[in-house]
Amino acid sequence: ESTKILRQTSKAPSRAPSVSGIGTVVEKPDYSEARIVVAMVGLPARGKSYLSNKLMRYLRWLEYNVDVFNVGQLRRSKARAAMQTGGGKVDHSATYFSHSNAEASRIREQLANESLESLISWLKKEGNVGIMDATNSTRDRREWIRHRVAQEPNLQLMFLESFCDDPVVIAANVALKASSGDPDYAGMSREDAERDFRKRIEQYESVYQTITEPDISYCRILNVGQRVTINRIQSYLQSRVAFYLMNLHLKPRSIYLSRHGESMYNVEGKIGGDSDLSPRGFEYAKALPALVRDNIGDGPLEVWTSTLQRTQQTGSYLPFEKKTWKSLDELDAGVCDGMTYEEIEEKYPEDYESRDEDKFNYRYRGGESYRDVVVRLEPVIMELERQENILIIAHQAILRCLYAYFHGKTQEELPYIKIPLHTLIKISPRAYGCHEERYPLPIAAVDTHRPKPKGKKGATPSNGAPPHEGEEKPEKAEEKADFETDTSVARDYFGDKAGKGIGVKPESVSRILEEKVQKGDIVPTA
Ligand code: F6P
Ligand code: PEP
Repeated sequence: ESTKILRQTSKAPSRAPSVSGIGTVVEKPDYSEARIVVAMVGLPARGKSYLSNKLMRYLRWLEYNVDVFNVGQLRRSKARAAMQTGGGKVDHSATYFSHSNAEASRIREQLANESLESLISWLKKEGNVGIMDATNSTRDRREWIRHRVAQEPNLQLMFLESFCDDPVVIAANVALKASSGDPDYAGMSREDAERDFRKRIEQYESVYQTITEPDISYCRILNVGQRVTINRIQSYLQSRVAFYLMNLHLKPRSIYLSRHGESMYNVEGKIGGDSDLSPRGFEYAKALPALVRDNIGDGPLEVWTSTLQRTQQTGSYLPFEKKTWKSLDELDAGVCDGMTYEEIEEKYPEDYESRDEDKFNYRYRGGESYRDVVVRLEPVIMELERQENILIIAHQAILRCLYAYFHGKTQEELPYIKIPLHTLIKISPRAYGCHEERYPLPIAAVDTHRPKPKGKKGATPSNGAPPHEGEEKPEKAEEKADFETDTSVARDYFGDKAGKGIGVKPESVSRILEEKVQKGDIVPTA
């Protein structure tokens, strides 16, 4: 069984229709045999939704069709619907979650059942990984899930328990729930919400049974990262999930992304190559240490660059430990390496067209597609999850792929994400998704972003699926605009360094920033 899955989930893409020019459009790998129910386990406030969403983003980035089925959301949307049809307000205070409340327990079982049924029918139709985000905190509930999934011949089941006894983490999660405008506590003061939520947790604690069942597949995570117990992991996809979870941690940190400073090839409009920085690119490299220091203070930082000269030159003034990754080298444009877009359009017009038609899937002859880049970046992502503050100095296509992982961007959006030159992007993981700030330095550079020509259809969106029937729209903060541009840093920085080689007068900084906003260089990416 496990060998079969291994072979099937890692086999070559099912279809590779070639276009008549120099490149090919290589479509999604065939993951049709991979179908797993991942059932979360744990008390409230143990980060189950955090893990569910993070796992979903990771697997979607790897092109699995993944969705989270959240029982709490289903409960709330039903309560809302009942209220709208004149049923009155449903009481979801702590007593609703009491084991001795027979009526509420029956309703909760019904909701869990409904959620699992829609998860299963979605998996049978199209999904690869369905994550059931519920407490599933008793053996009985887990036995019932196991029994139901076992009726489906092609579905695997894996439990994922988040066990957390770190009072700091729990307190932070409780405070977040009470202050995040959670619909369960609408109209309540923060104190009342916290009190009620703590009572709810106590109700669960009185019946909670941590996973010890010897014959089920599970992954039990203690305090996210402290210890992971793995039991009966069977398939390739299950072990991939377990390996990913083993690498996570909750320490606050930021990931900084920067393209190399403007290169000579950028100035000439050529793609690829291994050219030096332009004089303006060197100005950026020299300006980077102060900007980075301002941001991380005395905190530790490691700098990762590609093997190409332009990223190494950009990092050369930074007084931090550096690592060079071949996997961070720019997307290989194969036979088009060293050409301008105009030259490609003239020499290979059909290819130029097909790339715009489906940029994520288009593979340059002798080179790579965005998909190929995602595949080679997976070890980078795994290592990134293990690390604390990291600054990655890389390239336009590479940073788009990394950015898409953190923000859950679709394959359609990914190749057009704006990653301008001379801009430091700071990404900080939060409970729901990632927070982002951008620091554009006022050092002029060419714009290498090619917008998608109008009327091109592009790849089929692979994620961002609409909510399932009966579910409300996601409440997650990650669905909202996720970054702000901190222009004050650029201004401060510029104020300090005015006339010291940046080549722009102080009074023109705001104008430059305004222009960047107008040009769309620093607008929040939709
Ligand atoms: O133009 C800079 C660059 O990094 C090229 O080396 C690379 O081919 C290109 O960007 C990737 O961007 P796109 O996929 O939009 O062509
Ligand atoms: C919920 O209703 O918020 C919930 C998580 O349900 P359960 O504990 O029944 O899984």
